[in-house]
Amino acid sequence: MNEQIAKARIKELIDLLLKYAHQYYIDENPSVSDAIYDSLMNELKTLEAQYPELVSENSPTQRIAAYAIDSFQKVEHQSRMLSLNDVFSIDDVRAWVTRISKLADGIDSYFMDIKMDGLACSIIYQDGSLVQAVTRGDGFIGEDVTANIRTIRSIPLTLTAVPGFEKSTKGRIEIRGEIIMLKADFEALNKQREKDGLPLFANPRNLAAGTIRQLDPNLVATRPLNFRAYDIISDSSDFETNMDVYEMITELGITRNKQAKIAKRVDEIEDFINLWSSKRHDLAFNTDGLVIKVNNRQIFSDLGVVGKSPRAAIAYKYPAEEAATKILDIELSIGRTGAVTPIAVVNPVVVAGTTIRHASLHNSDEIDRKDIRVGDSVIIYKAGDIIPQIDRVLLELRPKNSVKYNFQTQLKSSYPKFHFERPEGEVKYRLVTKDVPMLWKKATEHYASKSALDIDGLGEANVSLLVDSGLVKDVADLYALKKADLTSLDRFAELSSDNLIKAIQAKKKPLLSKFIYGLGIRHVGAQTAIDLTHSFQSIDLLAEATAEQLQAVEGIGTVVAESIVEWFDDLENTELLDKLKKIGVQPIEAAKNDQLAGLSFAITGSLQDFTRDQLADKIRLMGGKFDASVNKDTTYLIVGDAPGAAKLAKASQLNTKQIDETKLKQLFDNRTS
Ligand code: IVH
Repeated sequence: MNEQIAKARIKELIDLLLKYAHQYYIDENPSVSDAIYDSLMNELKTLEAQYPELVSENSPTQRIAAYAIDSFQKVEHQSRMLSLNDVFSIDDVRAWVTRISKLADGIDSYFMDIKMDGLACSIIYQDGSLVQAVTRGDGFIGEDVTANIRTIRSIPLTLTAVPGFEKSTKGRIEIRGEIIMLKADFEALNKQREKDGLPLFANPRNLAAGTIRQLDPNLVATRPLNFRAYDIISDSSDFETNMDVYEMITELGITRNKQAKIAKRVDEIEDFINLWSSKRHDLAFNTDGLVIKVNNRQIFSDLGVVGKSPRAAIAYKYPAEEAATKILDIELSIGRTGAVTPIAVVNPVVVAGTTIRHASLHNSDEIDRKDIRVGDSVIIYKAGDIIPQIDRVLLELRPKNSVKYNFQTQLKSSYPKFHFERPEGEVKYRLVTKDVPMLWKKATEHYASKSALDIDGLGEANVSLLVDSGLVKDVADLYALKKADLTSLDRFAELSSDNLIKAIQAKKKPLLSKFIYGLGIRHVGAQTAIDLTHSFQSIDLLAEATAEQLQAVEGIGTVVAESIVEWFDDLENTELLDKLKKIGVQPIEAAKNDQLAGLSFAITGSLQDFTRDQLADKIRLMGGKFDASVNKDTTYLIVGDAPGAAKLAKASQLNTKQIDETKLKQLFDNRTS
């Protein structure tokens, strides 16, 4: 980037960031999240560091806390409202535990809760009646928002009297917690606004914060806010532990999170972090992390405060799930079946803890709908296990000379010699040109892959070489390879040639299901291939099957059935099958075994005695189903070493039974014997 381009970009970034700051501070209705604001701010900071002479006074990097509103009564907090220091990894948590353990004796447990993404508020009760509500403000002085708070139904106007706890009816008691808006309420509100043609709100947290600072309580009453408490301000002698405080919150008739838990060791803190890393998306409210505190209240207060935060508590933050980045290019990738998928190549950016370089754009309609162009700044997001997606374009940062992306033109210029068609009713373009070496490679790689025939030594590089050298056009050619063919190629020596030929010849009698899968028929995955072999015991029988007969197989619908019929109708494919037969390839049917019929398995972590592929094969051959992910039909989640948090969380959410390797083997044995 030269200085002139940098200058223009800096100006655009400043304009946009100032606009966002105005939305945030003045309108109290920002259109983007903090993560997006931060990533754009980072781009600006990087450019300014590169071109210091371009740093202007009005750049948002040059000032902080730009705006303040002065309309509510200021109230001094009787005891300061603290914040928490953020940590971003389990190592940081361990370091914190080590640090405080050196400073205080007797820490025997930690209290953990979900960190709600809302705004802090202190509610004061006098003789059991609500008298005042104050926002955090700067921690010392907050704003009196009592009138607004009174409209929130989850905040009782009078406390439930608790026998033995005098403050519930006499004297002053302060309850601290978070004001939030539930995700469902937020969505319903936005849906209504969309119908009414009103601008949409950005996110529940900002809307909650904006609402509580409205001057008209009647308007506040129309916005569904909630309050969840996390602390009672009291003498440390009132409660021994933070868990005791939570129990009292409930007794007083106030809502709090039910997910709160005690950990005795750091490992248990780690488990809690892992548990909520994916499950948090299913919570009714937004969260960006967890709060971890020393459970004992006396030790908590003895540990003291540094700056604005108590030593005895931290906030564990999950990585942001969205960021702004730039589209450097759009690549059109052709898959094994000839389908074209556009892929955005983006400026590398860390989202949800991983560096993202590519995002799928799915198909040409998607590009059109979002009007995505090369050079655009976009918001990219990635939640849980999903593939990174492009949410939308930041139109304000679109380069002046930007041109609309024309899928067909680009497809032509990327692959000038190929012809593509978009079949009616489909979203993807497909390659219709025959005899394309790139597709021969993909088909051969698939045939040799682990889940298909599993031919050792036939990875991408070797397949590519065999196709480029003219030795292999289809998978039948593999079986005709001679040692001399291979040794004539640079890559192969005597031994490696022998090994490859042996590996290929060893797969002349593949399992029928593996063979069917290996043919690469569209929509026929490993499980479908097995299901097919239960009804059609040879490739010839399958070739003759009608769409109706195919649909009679459990799990096969119209799309799959038609795709199979179409494959066998294609002369080129039946010629390939003939060629394979002539060269001696004889798929064999597995001995019928229905021991695991009706059971569906998924796995997380690794097992001692089976690789994942071996396990999938064994289960499928015994009539069971094996899935990559846990879903509502999963009977058992097999839990191996180093299991993944996401699958464990999903399984516990769906009440899926979890078994270890020993139990799995018993299941294999019991059912077989
Ligand atoms: S305990 C000393 N528990 O996060 C403050 N805070 O950055 C102890 N928050 O000021 C707070 N959920 O506004 C606690 N379950 C939770 C929370 C929570 C959200 C907020 C709170 C606090 C801020 C810390």
